[in-house]
Amino acid sequence: MAKHTILALNGPNLNLLGTREPEIYGSTTLDEIAQAMQNAASAKGWHIDFRQSNHEGELVDWIQQARDSADAIILNAGAYSHTSVAILDALHAAEKPVIEVHLSNLFKRETFRHHSYISPVAVGLICGFGAKGYLLALDALEDCLN
Ligand code: DQA
Repeated sequence: MAKHTILALNGPNLNLLGTREPEIYGSTTLDEIAQAMQNAASAKGWHIDFRQSNHEGELVDWIQQARDSADAIILNAGAYSHTSVAILDALHAAEKPVIEVHLSNLFKRETFRHHSYISPVAVGLICGFGAKGYLLALDALEDCLN
């Protein structure tokens, strides 16, 4: 049995990775990110529950379920990072360590991307390292889980 289960949650439009604005988000697909995370997690003896949804309510449902089914959450909420109080509230209720990930460097982009509702509840934020950010987040979690 895996030592820890990590919910890796992806928000709207991230299903299009690989073809969506590759100059900003890179050419790695979401399936490739999922595979790389599974490989890195199994090396640590962890299990990844990797999901993507374009729907805010579905993301909220999955975060609520994580209260019982996950030890930590790695979250790229996409554009909902900048708008969703509902996701913030669900993360507060989940009471799990959260690492916020963005492929792009938000602070080099439009000012509306500089604010995230996720950041206040996150252990930390990783942005600007493309797909590698998801693997950095897994490494960062080592210090949050025992
Ligand atoms: C993103 C950044 C968000 O501003 C944007 O809406 C996304 C992707 C990123 O991974 O860089 O959909 O979360």
